[in-house]
Amino acid sequence: MSIEISPSILSADFSNLISDISECEKENIGIFHIDVMDGHFVPNITIGSVVVESIRKKTKSILDTHLMIENPERYVEAFAKAGSDWITFHIETTNSPLGIIKKIKDLNVKAGISLNPGTPIEKIKPYLEDVFMVMVMSVNPGFGGQKFMPTVLSKVSRLKECRGKLKNKFKIGIDGGINFDTISEVVKAGAELVVAGSAVFKTELGIRKSIEKLRELSK
Ligand code: DX5
Ligand code: ZN
Repeated sequence: MSIEISPSILSADFSNLISDISECEKENIGIFHIDVMDGHFVPNITIGSVVVESIRKKTKSILDTHLMIENPERYVEAFAKAGSDWITFHIETTNSPLGIIKKIKDLNVKAGISLNPGTPIEKIKPYLEDVFMVMVMSVNPGFGGQKFMPTVLSKVSRLKECRGKLKNKFKIGIDGGINFDTISEVVKAGAELVVAGSAVFKTELGIRKSIEKLRELSK
């Protein structure tokens, strides 16, 4: 089965971001994952909308923005206007998921929902008809390069099962700790969009060969 790889630029070289992005594009990568962290919902602070705006000017690829922030409704517009194609927020950060989904869609952006390893899928079940993607976290969000948590694999297969009964065929994504050792099991479980940061940008093989190897191992 063919899967999509979304390289997380968090692990790229920020002083050479566009050159890292172009190198991925030469390998036919067409989606980039942008990890937005606020120092509140997660301990780390990373990328703001100005960075998305700059990247947007240099690439036509899909910009897959992952908001790991409190009060996501306050920032959706800025990230949409900056040029995000997809915006994913965390279920743990809001009491009105439908309001945020509507806000994202009204800005002509695709809306995704994400859940932490400790959050049961029951929490997102009411919204599965409303989102185009569910992003299952396979690490506790906050940092790149963490160890994959295999306990989340059952969530991927259960989501696939739920989707069978629904009209809305949302995409199943997975994010965190995906590398040469773990990609095959996540794909077997049913993940279709695989986020990979360190495994694309920080291996000895270099970017192009790492992508090739990830693809090979996901077959
Ligand atoms: C974790 C982020 C991930 C992470 C992926 O908080 O949401 O996107 O950067 O990086 P790796 O692939 O290195 O785990
Ligand atoms: Zn992410």
